[in-house]
Amino acid sequence: MPRKSGIGIVGTGRFLPTKVLNNADLEKMVDTSDEWIMTRTGIKERRIAGEGIAAAFMGAEAAKRALQNAGLDAGEIDLIITATITPDMQFPSTSCLIQHRLGAVRAIGFDISAACSGYIYGITIAQQFIKSGLYRNALVIGSEKMSSITDWEDRNTCVLFGDGAGACVMQKVKEGGILSTYLGSDGRNAPLLEVPGGGSLRPASHETIDERLHYCKMSGSELFKEAVKLMAEAGNKAMAKSGLKCGDIDLVIPHQANIRILWAVAKKMNLPREKIYLNIERYGNMSSASTAVALAEAVEEKRIKKGDIIILDAFGAGLTWGAIVIKW
Ligand code: UT7
Repeated sequence: MPRKSGIGIVGTGRFLPTKVLNNADLEKMVDTSDEWIMTRTGIKERRIAGEGIAAAFMGAEAAKRALQNAGLDAGEIDLIITATITPDMQFPSTSCLIQHRLGAVRAIGFDISAACSGYIYGITIAQQFIKSGLYRNALVIGSEKMSSITDWEDRNTCVLFGDGAGACVMQKVKEGGILSTYLGSDGRNAPLLEVPGGGSLRPASHETIDERLHYCKMSGSELFKEAVKLMAEAGNKAMAKSGLKCGDIDLVIPHQANIRILWAVAKKMNLPREKIYLNIERYGNMSSASTAVALAEAVEEKRIKKGDIIILDAFGAGLTWGAIVIKW
């Protein structure tokens, strides 16, 4: 067994908006069907945050639950990292807005942009800060209002996404903790998934709005192949770094983009389907929040017990991908 890093997750939490948008609702909005969406993606319904509810609110709510489960006060948090591609605004950071909402007065905060892999990147960054001794208690949050960048007239993408947030508290632990991490990036494939407008290259203008450039554009089938290859590679590389084999793994908490991707990843990693945690049917793809919410739910449902070995595994725009092996 490899040496323990001694840095672990000591509390998790999640927040999902109450409004449900199901496939029958989408049938009334675009030319699609429940049958197509279920068989091609595995998604039945997703949550939608109402007006005035955005990444900072949802992230703070998830963080409050994570703090409660960790038995920590907001004032004890040193570091807040929020992974989001749907920040409340371009600046200030969503982490600073969350810091204020929580009253985490002594924490520093910043956001990271790693799309669907953001929660994995965030946990890896927080681990380094704790390991170095600079900070003791960290909050890592994945929060997304994907509905705000979804083109509700584009059937190729609007059936896929949902809103929500998940969070965890990290600190030094006496037993278990993170056994290994693995991250990857490949900017060559950046155009496969992007929101082209609204940044410094194409600032908001009448033209960018007319051309619908403020919405998510996706080359689905190309991404699908990369997702299968790179999620399996990330999981296998993280396992190898920790000296573990697929038989040692109790549960995989993957990014939830498409059920067919997850079955293909399970096959490539030689893992039975029962070891893949799924909630895509209820929430769709929530980008960075998908892995965060799935982990919090798996803990609540007691699918993860003390001593279990789990893998967080994600892939997304950038491209970015990564996996983390944790002994719970
Ligand atoms: O989270 C970050 C990473 N994201 C991913 O990795 C997503 C990866 N990609 C996917 O999950 C899948 O590619 C999609 C779910 C996006 C699409 O599934 P697909 O099996 O790759 O379908 P496709 O794009 O090849 O489209 C097949 C057909 C097309 O019709 P034709 O050209 O064959 O006549 C589409 O127009 O399905 C059509 N189609 C739809 N039909 C009904 C596309 N979207 C819909 C829809 N309802 N919503």
